Amino acid sequence: MRTPLVAGNWKMNGTRETIAALLDGILAGIGDVKAAEVAVCPPYPYLAEVGQRLAGSPVAWGAQNASQEEKGAFTGEVSVTMLKDFDCRYVIVGHSERRTLYGETDEVVAAKFARVRDAGMAPILCVGETLEEREAGVTEQVVERQLKAVVDKVGAAAIADGVIAYEPVWAIGTGRTATPEQAQEVHAFIRGLLAGHDGAVAEGVRILYGGSVKGANAAELFAKPDIDGGLIGGASLVADEFLTICRAAG
Ligand code: PGA
Repeated sequence: MRTPLVAGNWKMNGTRETIAALLDGILAGIGDVKAAEVAVCPPYPYLAEVGQRLAGSPVAWGAQNASQEEKGAFTGEVSVTMLKDFDCRYVIVGHSERRTLYGETDEVVAAKFARVRDAGMAPILCVGETLEEREAGVTEQVVERQLKAVVDKVGAAAIADGVIAYEPVWAIGTGRTATPEQAQEVHAFIRGLLAGHDGAVAEGVRILYGGSVKGANAAELFAKPDIDGGLIGGASLVADEFLTICRAAG
């Protein structure tokens, strides 16, 4: 039985004030979330404060990115050691915004996955096709290529220490959600790919859906057998909306 996970990706949003209010709202309602695990991924400068606020609560925290380098002269970068120092449980790697806006290749993403895992945190590996790729009928090839780069780097067994997030790029921040059937199809495909390497890993790993998940559509997505929760952008910035999604996951 996989424990569902709902992770909020706050992206580059918030101030100390709005984040304090958001955490107040989440903590006030989190008691109603019975069976799902919940996490939030704030921007780096707020990690310490968020961690202090959430320590001892059922809500975990994580980061949105990490350097693939260990340490040293990499101005502006943040290492996995630093993130571990602030007790992050999760680190998102390979988000489509990192891939498209910052040129992260499959190899860079795989190196980040390895670093995060080696540091004892759980990478949330994002995969997903663009609209152009979906329309060209190459969704499965794209997702397979993205996943293969990581499996080649760390081995299939290591995937068990992470989480996968299927995020069709055309659904991110667009209000255009994949239908539950479209999402389930790709989730089952991903699980099938992993099963080709290791049945237990395929069965145990959580595959989240991300892309315009809202309180109103979460339950039908999470009802699908291979959808184990969500990676939530915009809707994770509104406490009530986020809590509705968390309750839909369990
Ligand atoms: P969205 O973002 O929920 O705002 O579409 C999801 C994501 O980018 O993880």
